[in-house]
Amino acid sequence: MRRILVAGNWKMNKDIRESLELVKKISYAVNDISVRDILVCPPYTSLSAVHELVKDTNIKLGAQNLFWEESGAYTGEISASMLKSAGCEYVIIGHSERRQYFGETEETVNKRVKKALESGLKPIICVGETLQEREGSITEKVVDKQIRGAFEGLSEADCDTIIVAYEPVWAIGTGKTATPDDANNVHKFIRNLLKELYNENVAEKMVILYGGSVKPDNAAELFAMEDIDGGLVGGASLKSDDFIALIKAGIE
Ligand code: 13P
Repeated sequence: MRRILVAGNWKMNKDIRESLELVKKISYAVNDISVRDILVCPPYTSLSAVHELVKDTNIKLGAQNLFWEESGAYTGEISASMLKSAGCEYVIIGHSERRQYFGETEETVNKRVKKALESGLKPIICVGETLQEREGSITEKVVDKQIRGAFEGLSEADCDTIIVAYEPVWAIGTGKTATPDDANNVHKFIRNLLKELYNENVAEKMVILYGGSVKPDNAAELFAMEDIDGGLVGGASLKSDDFIALIKAGIE
């Protein structure tokens, strides 16, 4: 059975003090919740400090990107081993903002995923279409290419620790959410594609998150869908009350 994962992508928000303040509030409110997996992905500068706070709690820690080389003259980049030494267990890869603003391609996503796996970090691979692509009815074509690209050369065993996040670009930070049915259809498409690329077992086990304006008032409905296994949340993960409500959304 897949467990619901509620993950916060803080993007370029929260300095160290603000990060600690936020995570303390969250941790206090959700420390008795065992039926959900909970993850926060603060900016690099806060990772170590947040790790100290969450290491003995039910909150897991992730980063927002990594570079595929081990070390060397790559000014401004961060390696998998640096993230591990800061306490990270997960890493977001191929977020649409990285694809849009920082030249991320299918090939670079794949290199980062391979490096994460090789280093024992769990990659959260982001895919999703733009508004233009959705209006052009090529959502599945776009997602197909992104999934095939990201999983290129990966084995069935590699899939054990991978998470996929479907984040339609037009729904990110816009307040527009995909309807639960529309989102679920794309999730189902991704699951079927994984079945084709690997097998039924891989497809059934894969946690597929939805991202794009997930809020306390739409989360329960989204999380209840058959193929939606939680959320990758931006804006609402920055407010403790909202994120706490999201973690609890739909729990009886
Ligand atoms: P919002 O929740 O702010 O729409 O952002 C979603 C996202 O990009 C998470 O990675």
